[in-house]
Amino acid sequence: MARLHLDKVHKRYGNVTVLHDVSIDLEDGEFLVLVGPSGCGKSTLMNMIAGLDEPSGGRVSLDGRDITDLAPADRDISMVFQSYALYPNMTVEQNIAFPLRMRKVAREERTRRVREVASTLQLDHLLGRKPRQLSGGQRQRVAIGRALAREPRLYLFDEPLSNLDAQLRLDMRTEIKRLHQSLRATIVYVTHDQIEAMTLATRIAVLRDGVVQQIGTPHEVYHQPQNTFVAGFMGSPRMNLLRATVSSGEGGPWLQFGGGAQLALPCADAALRRRSSDEVIVGVRAEAIALQRNGVVPLGRHAALQARVEVVEPTGADILAVLDIGGQEITARLDPEETLHAGQIVALCFDLGRVVLFDARSQQRLA
Ligand SMILES: Nc1ncnc2c1ncn2[C@@H]1O[C@H](COP(=O)(O)OP(=O)(O)O)[C@@H](O)[C@H]1O
Ligand SMILES: [Mg+2]
Repeated sequence: MARLHLDKVHKRYGNVTVLHDVSIDLEDGEFLVLVGPSGCGKSTLMNMIAGLDEPSGGRVSLDGRDITDLAPADRDISMVFQSYALYPNMTVEQNIAFPLRMRKVAREERTRRVREVASTLQLDHLLGRKPRQLSGGQRQRVAIGRALAREPRLYLFDEPLSNLDAQLRLDMRTEIKRLHQSLRATIVYVTHDQIEAMTLATRIAVLRDGVVQQIGTPHEVYHQPQNTFVAGFMGSPRMNLLRATVSSGEGGPWLQFGGGAQLALPCADAALRRRSSDEVIVGVRAEAIALQRNGVVPLGRHAALQARVEVVEPTGADILAVLDIGGQEITARLDPEETLHAGQIVALCFDLGRVVLFDARSQQRLA
């Protein structure tokens, strides 16, 4: 059991504030991923939870107990870092057992836990080796094993896959997800990689300059970003963000993109109708865009507008097309069978049910 409660956690170094009143509630068994660009305060927040650094304000509690002033060793929390920090002179078995020895866990129990962890992480055949005789991925598994053996209330992972090569990262990502499913452990996981965040998390907290921008399920953060920062940060390709002016008219309101490009929003709510002549940012995911074929608009809440093909990038599974709409660029994920060439004029359909509007000034999502 572990419920984590962060209440207005604040951190200053001198007169620089790196965390601004971060409040997060984590239920038992959740996998929270803290994601944000390098330097946004992710590690600082993890260190506050682990007790490796002191907050300048705010409280941290675990299962209803205030642990803000407890030493790291008394928190019942295990942390896995980007650098594996294994003891070079100890075998894999000794490395995994080390925290148990420090806690004076009896030998039999120690052996039982090490065996169990080794089997979970497929390290059985490596127990006698020293870290230098292991690959990067194996070392990272040992570091994770050392955290597991302690059977803590809460696991913290700080960019644990960043030192691994691309294929190994994907494999380890799957393993970590599998581990969470089988242990039902409560995990806080830090990454700057938004794909890792999407694939692993039960909930994502997006951090920017020490301020939480949004906390939500991967689906919410991806489809209903709170602001243009989250929209631009999550997803690959990132959400297209187009400047537009709202105008009223037949079958509207209309969004004017400039250069004569315009889009009617037949289903728009009354709030948008009142925004006539306001500047908005139109957010649309690459996969919510399709080509209009022979004047036929695909079924659903779609609307079409003209665009010029700039660049065509086949990925195998699909085509990423960069297109120009009235001087603004967008990326569309299209069927791999489409034959497109640069300079071609096409009619694009936006799935209006998946279009998100933001206020141009505040950059916040319009309700
Ligand atoms: N001990 C410190 N003294 C001063 N500034 C620090 C210290 N530790 C971290 N910072 C600053 O705090 C900010 C957040 O750092 P960090 O939490 O490591 O970011 P992240 O893990 O998101 O990359 C950075 O601007 C960093 O320079
Ligand atoms: Mg960091």
